[in-house]
Amino acid sequence: MLSSKIKERLHQERTPLYLYDMDLLRRTLESAREASGRYGYKVHYALKANFDPVIVECIHDHGFGTDCVSGNEVRYSIECGFAPSDVVYAGVGKTDEEIEYAIRQQIFAFNCESRQEMRVINDIAAGIGMKADVAFRLNPDVDPLTHKGISTGQADSKFGISYKEIDEIAAEAGSLNNINITGIHFHIGSQITELKVFEYLCRRANTLFEYFVSRGFDLKHINLGGGLGIDYNRPEEHPIPDFETYFDIFARNLNVGKDTEVHFELGRSLVGQCGEFISRVLFTKINSAGKNVALLDGSMTELIRPALYQSHHSIENLDGAGRRESQYTIGGTVCESTDTFARGITLPELRRGDLVSIKTAGAYGSAMASRYNMHELPRALHWERQTENI
Ligand code: LLP
Repeated sequence: MLSSKIKERLHQERTPLYLYDMDLLRRTLESAREASGRYGYKVHYALKANFDPVIVECIHDHGFGTDCVSGNEVRYSIECGFAPSDVVYAGVGKTDEEIEYAIRQQIFAFNCESRQEMRVINDIAAGIGMKADVAFRLNPDVDPLTHKGISTGQADSKFGISYKEIDEIAAEAGSLNNINITGIHFHIGSQITELKVFEYLCRRANTLFEYFVSRGFDLKHINLGGGLGIDYNRPEEHPIPDFETYFDIFARNLNVGKDTEVHFELGRSLVGQCGEFISRVLFTKINSAGKNVALLDGSMTELIRPALYQSHHSIENLDGAGRRESQYTIGGTVCESTDTFARGITLPELRRGDLVSIKTAGAYGSAMASRYNMHELPRALHWERQTENI
């Protein structure tokens, strides 16, 4: 809930914008740190979820590493002060330039997605007289029971090393002199709310770990990726994800020996709830079907999730106190029907100039913004709850 002072303050701001609750971010990070620390687990923040510099600084201060998917993310991590030894680099398509850059930085590990990529990393490392630490990203064929657009660990997908390539890759890796195979890696999908899925992942991970050990690999770490889902329906009731239950599932089901480091790559669960997308009602009208339509000054160019995944975000009229409720379609400014944040939602009457908050927008919100229609990229304000400062 935003205080009336903050609402007043927001009325003076140019919208649309992202508002980040820094207090909630810190409490979330502390909770994740405590729950993972209990088992000695290492968490890398998936930078793709949100690369806002103030947020990233806070994450760095809490002792997390980063999980990157591009050379620019690796560079940004290092510029933000993360030790290269805390940086992992996944990504299904890494360019030669990106690979060379990351080898030179001596990052913790590449998460390598194919036999061909393994050879390329080895060749590039040989060319510059260096050695790279590599983990195999394995596709375990586990259904994450989430939206198909964000599922990554099933057989028919572009991600990871398939069961078909596994024997060949295990046979060849030992002959490559410029890579060390230091671990195995998985990431099966995002916004996973059926936690049983992580038990299935553990079972597959145990078998695959055992397989590589039996083939003579000295695996120092296992990385289980990210994916922990958050509550988009009732963010106020569940502002902090249940990290305890999540890490506990791995502690109970993973069977990889106590000397093996266990790593994770969490994105959404660390930053999702601390952000909300604030925009202003430009116009209201009734369409030919007799429905109320409210048009915001924000759009899919700043928050694309509803358009791309038909995702639900809870919405609040920040100026609606005491007004009668009606059903609304909430649209953005872009000339595409998909640019609709919600249909048929009940809100206190919306009037021109009202501020609307779209919740749970801290992850994959500003990070996915585009300049379509020549829109400006959205601004960000960082709110300190105690002092009421922005
Ligand atoms: N590790 C890898 C290799 C990944 O590809 C991802 C996310 C993560 C970790 C972090 O996953 P998380 O903990 O955030 O679930 N734009 C979509 C989500 C795409 C996720 C892509 N990969 C959305 O807005 O829902």
